[in-house]
Amino acid sequence: MNAPLDHHVVLRAEGLARHYELRRGPFAAPAVVRALAEASFELKQGRTLAVVGESGCGKSTLARVVTMIEPPTAGRLVVEDREVTGRNAEDARILRRSVQIVFQDPYGSLNPRQKIGTILEEPLAINTDLSAADRRAKAQAMLAKVGLRPEHYERYPHMFSGGQRQRIAIARALMLDPKILVLDEPVSALDVSIQAQVLNLLTDLQQEFGLAYLFISHDLSVVRHIADEVMVMYLGRPVEVAPKEEIFASTRHPYTRALLSATPSTDPAARKERIRLTGELPSPLRPPSGCAFHPRCPYVYEPCPVDRPELKVPGSDLLVACHAVRDGRI
Ligand SMILES: Nc1ncnc2c1ncn2[C@@H]1O[C@H](COP(=O)(O)OP(=O)(O)OP(=O)(O)O)[C@@H](O)[C@H]1O
Ligand code: SF4
Ligand SMILES: [Mg+2]
Repeated sequence: MNAPLDHHVVLRAEGLARHYELRRGPFAAPAVVRALAEASFELKQGRTLAVVGESGCGKSTLARVVTMIEPPTAGRLVVEDREVTGRNAEDARILRRSVQIVFQDPYGSLNPRQKIGTILEEPLAINTDLSAADRRAKAQAMLAKVGLRPEHYERYPHMFSGGQRQRIAIARALMLDPKILVLDEPVSALDVSIQAQVLNLLTDLQQEFGLAYLFISHDLSVVRHIADEVMVMYLGRPVEVAPKEEIFASTRHPYTRALLSATPSTDPAARKERIRLTGELPSPLRPPSGCAFHPRCPYVYEPCPVDRPELKVPGSDLLVACHAVRDGRI
């Protein structure tokens, strides 16, 4: 039976940041990479928040912080009404079970020496008191849920295709009954025909288990297929958060428009106002002042290189970090 979906908030991020120090030699001061800054958003039961942006904008860093693989440098993470930051090890371990991750590479993420049954049962062996028989039953039930066959239980990863391996990785992520799945480019390494199958599987599993997805992708056609809401990131910061329909039909942020322009579209309205992304993506070690997009933005004007725009547009519900939108210029 499907879980009842009321779309309540299962994870809240408030001002999450993650910095890395890069050592540049024994005497030089370390450089700081602000891989993630001021990321605030909510994940809701049964809903998908997609995260998009160019390579290096901090998507995987966000994934590692949300799944508690790495602690945030600043900010709060609240999972099912419990604050994660500052927990003792045992509490953190229990919270961590609620948030699982699926990575992009279906070839690197499964241990080649373990049978599929062992791979699926390992999280149960480590985290639960279930008997061997119960673990096996649960693993076999999960194989069926992700569209694999009972005999696959005894096989090794090399005997599977990329799409099947990604099904196994999804099954493993679900073994501890998480509430939240972080999917970091889960279909980017797969053939297009296989991508659709895996996306459909993810949609079915979301319905059945009431899962919240944080779905990272650089591919806007995939995002169009799967997202409810979209968060656009640029150089480590969210610059727009909006329902999918608004992003694709009427986004106002110049960077989001540029990303959409780079994607083939059949919609004449969307094609009309194309913005081309010009110039190099700046180094995250030296992000531009003010609005970090200003060296590439066709709408740049006086305040842009000076002040960083807030994500929330004053006097409205819009989450669009742009002075020109705030001032009604676009
Ligand atoms: N462990 C680390 N140490 C230093 N810098 C890092 C580390 N991890 C990530 N970075 C830097 O942080 C920035 C964000 O990286 P991240 O991997 O999160 O980007 P991404 O959006 O996932 O990119 P891609 O689309 O290529 O996967 C990059 O500039 C990257 O070089
Ligand atoms: S704040 Fe200025 S530079 Fe940044 S996106 Fe808006 S118009 Fe462009
Ligand atoms: Mg990444």
